[in-house]
Amino acid sequence: MNNFDFFAPTEVIFGRDAQEKTGTQARKFGARKVMLVTGGGSVVRSGLLRQVEDSLTKEGIPFVEFAGARPNPTLVHACEGIRKAVNEHVDMIIAVGGGSTIDTAKAIAHGTANPDHELWDIWTRKVALEKSLPIGAVLTIPAAGSEMSDSAVLTNEEIGKKSGINTPFNRCRFAIMNPEVAFTLPDQQLAAGITDIMMHTMERYFIPGVKCDLTDEIAEGLLRTVIKNGRILMKDKNNYDAMAEIMWAGSLSHNNLTECGRGKDFSVHKLGHALSARYDVTHGASLSAVWGSWAQYLYMDAKGRFAQYAERVWQVQEDDTESAAAEGIKRTIAFFREIGMPVSLKELGVNVSEQEIHALALDATMNDTAKLSRIRPLNAEDVAAIYRMALK
Ligand code: NZQ
Ligand code: ZN
Repeated sequence: MNNFDFFAPTEVIFGRDAQEKTGTQARKFGARKVMLVTGGGSVVRSGLLRQVEDSLTKEGIPFVEFAGARPNPTLVHACEGIRKAVNEHVDMIIAVGGGSTIDTAKAIAHGTANPDHELWDIWTRKVALEKSLPIGAVLTIPAAGSEMSDSAVLTNEEIGKKSGINTPFNRCRFAIMNPEVAFTLPDQQLAAGITDIMMHTMERYFIPGVKCDLTDEIAEGLLRTVIKNGRILMKDKNNYDAMAEIMWAGSLSHNNLTECGRGKDFSVHKLGHALSARYDVTHGASLSAVWGSWAQYLYMDAKGRFAQYAERVWQVQEDDTESAAAEGIKRTIAFFREIGMPVSLKELGVNVSEQEIHALALDATMNDTAKLSRIRPLNAEDVAAIYRMALK
């Protein structure tokens, strides 16, 4: 087991009616004026936003709203939010929504606390982030795990890049999670969320050569739980217990618990972000479309790890390691298909030329300067080969 730091400071308020505690949580963390950040309107239609507002009003905390965060949230929109937050003198940002809304809230918190700096300079670390505003989240979709993660992701449309920043300032002070609010999710978003949760766990799992029994067991148990309850939810979205399992798994998959002693890789996410930046595809779908090709490209270099995954997550029983490893990949792809996720670029609806594959590979590897994967280093040529395999 490698040395590690584990820091997951977010206070979680989980369960039915949890949103009614938003006001008391905001008060507890010192809010005097809040900005409520929302997305494209689902929280207005469901009535959740009104409940959150009522909860703040009950505590006597004034608030302003900033709507319009969209999937693959943009730098331009976040900057608009910063201008409003600065003008309104807010001192806490609360997101009511999914990963895109929470990431926008994080960006607004950083920009508002540092109004003399360009947000993209903070994002790209030209300027060190040394302070931010406290952030809270009222989660509406189990998926990105942003409610407990130390990361935030934005798209800079002007230069066609989607990238994230990892910092302790990205940790929400509190996360309000009521599984019932996710009952209104469209099937496609639910399936994309299930995929992302699995991916956050697998991106920390396929790292060979490190022995971490407990971390393995947590990751494998989390994956089995998501597969089992994901199947239930795809048939019955209003199943509270299944949604609760998935929502909690979403947070634990990305609060670093499943990387203790091993670390993380996130190469599939790099491939996915390059696709989302250029083609504006759903995050979870960008991952399922390339995961199978990524796994097939690499598994022979980590046969034992892939075989362990197959045996413990998918109950595969094969006589030899290589067949078990291959079968685990097959079953994962079949599961993505079963829940309606794309497993190729064609199914993702992205038709790319050889020239575009080359451009995507350069984006994913920062112009061939960053090596991806901890199984073996992948350069732009390797990444292009994976995209090519994913064409189907
Ligand atoms: O915008 P609204 O109207 O709210 O609709 C959203 C959106 O259209 C809808 N939705 C969410 N909750 C709903 C609902 N519709 C009905 N009922 C509900 N309860 O779902 C759509 C997707 O929302 P979004 O916030 O984009 O989903 P998700 O949580 O998957 O977030 C994806 C974003 O998070 C980033 C992704 O790259 C992507 O930009 N990620 C952030 C991470 C982090 N900060 O730690 C890690 C992830 O790996 C990921 O990169
Ligand atoms: Zn993700």
